[in-house]
Amino acid sequence: MVLSFISIKKFADEPYSKILGYPKATSRQIRSRINELEKLKIKSISLTGPTTLGNLAILGKGYVGVVVLAKKGSKQVALKIRRTDSPRNEMRNEAVLLKLVNTVNVGPKMFVASKNFLVMEYLEGIKIIEWVNTLKGKGSAKKLKSTVRKILEDCYRLDQIGFDHGELSNISKHVIVGKTKSTLIDFESSSTNRRPSNVTSVTQAIFIGSGIAKKTQKIYKNPPKEKIIKILKQYKQEKSQENFEKLLKILKL
Ligand SMILES: Nc1ncnc2c1ncn2[C@@H]1O[C@H](COP(=O)(O)OP(=O)(O)O)[C@@H](O)[C@H]1O
Ligand SMILES: [Mg+2]
Repeated sequence: MVLSFISIKKFADEPYSKILGYPKATSRQIRSRINELEKLKIKSISLTGPTTLGNLAILGKGYVGVVVLAKKGSKQVALKIRRTDSPRNEMRNEAVLLKLVNTVNVGPKMFVASKNFLVMEYLEGIKIIEWVNTLKGKGSAKKLKSTVRKILEDCYRLDQIGFDHGELSNISKHVIVGKTKSTLIDFESSSTNRRPSNVTSVTQAIFIGSGIAKKTQKIYKNPPKEKIIKILKQYKQEKSQENFEKLLKILKL
């Protein structure tokens, strides 16, 4: 599909201005945000993606930000725009956290950030909850296993650096599965001051909880919950490579 990109200058006016200042902004705020984008070398935005804001297609929306596909120079990037009613008063903190997880090859690559914007690698793909629904027939168990293993390995590396994502118990929105890779996203609630529970949260969400767990059960026969809970307890006590590998083994990954 050929995407059309709209110059950010056009985002000063309706309907596009909604994207830069959602849910509500003054024209002065919008102009200042366009200036900020120019400094970040963001030239244009493409209105594409699975979600909509009014009538405009976007990549996604959460409590903190509105995410759109944009061009920085000639490169396609994901632009996270701080909502005007966001609980966070700037994007830099999230940028620092994203930079940190990038050091262990987790998350979309963080490029640059400012008060109201975060520019990161654009991830092509779909949310894991939708991806699981696309699985059927021969080969789906193998696909599911390798994707889940990759996600748990990312979680393990985060546990190792003492980093807690914070929202992985609700995994459905926090992993984007693409053709060649799966990536954890949204580090705005993350912390380096909590006990990390990335591996345990994801294991619970995928194998023990409702939602995704119900579907994985249908794709391949998971081990009994008590067995998983027992090894998770051990792993919680000691987050060693050995315990992590035991977990992978029990999960048949
Ligand atoms: N790097 C990215 N590439 C593609 N889509 C993304 C990217 N980051 C976020 N999204 C989409 O935007 C949505 C909202 O982003 P998220 O970071 O979760 O915002 P919030 O912090 O407001 O919850 C995500 O659920 C996802 O669908
Ligand atoms: Mg979110």
